[in-house]
Amino acid sequence: MRKKVVAGNWKCNTTLHEGVELAKAVDKLISEKGAADVVVVLGTPFTHLTSVVGAIDTKRIGVASQNCAAEAKGAFTGEVSAAMVKSTGSQYVILGHSERREYYGETSEILNKKLALALENGLTPIYCCGEPLNIRNAGTQVEYVINQLEETIFQLSEEDFKKLVIAYEPIWAIGTGVTATTEQAQEMHKSIRDAIADKFGAEVADEMSLLYGGSCNAKNANELFANPDVDGGLIGGASLKADDFIQIINAY
Ligand code: PGA
Repeated sequence: MRKKVVAGNWKCNTTLHEGVELAKAVDKLISEKGAADVVVVLGTPFTHLTSVVGAIDTKRIGVASQNCAAEAKGAFTGEVSAAMVKSTGSQYVILGHSERREYYGETSEILNKKLALALENGLTPIYCCGEPLNIRNAGTQVEYVINQLEETIFQLSEEDFKKLVIAYEPIWAIGTGVTATTEQAQEMHKSIRDAIADKFGAEVADEMSLLYGGSCNAKNANELFANPDVDGGLIGGASLKADDFIQIINAY
């Protein structure tokens, strides 16, 4: 059965101490009242991975980095490889986030290298896609997003593709307080699932967890998650407050 996933993306927020405290608070709330059938992931800064892994019940909560290097190792000052992320006990890596594409020039070519290294090292990529506002206004968002998939994850073997989690994040909704309507989210998720079915078959499409991201919060998660093709969320701002995050986890 398709998994429900709620993943936090802390972005460039929290000091090490604050991050560990946040992780512990989430861990405590989940052990008390977290929905048992939801896979929970915390996407922390690189510097926090090892400490967060040590501070939580990793059988219940997964840990993700928000990026990894496009090279396996070597003279790449400042980079953190997929093998390094894996060695912290983290199981996931967020790849293709629009902020990485826009501010750090991550192209499909770079993302394909990162995807391959993540998978080789046994990390589960949480692969992000989504359109900017001008594309949404032009009404070509479905073509735009499917093209992002065709250039990257649709190049993977079926065996590797099945290991992914996909997050649809309309760029105009990220951190803006503007959320896609349930109709807009469902339309895109259904289009993504149909494209997966065309490429890898209906069974693979049916099993794939498709998360929504973009100003998803404790108030609107319930409505968004009620869509048949929305299998959870990638949560930015609202994942920085344990009380809000647990409400999102329990929003089904
Ligand atoms: P947001 O961010 O929830 O703050 O809009 C989502 C994301 O970028 O993953």
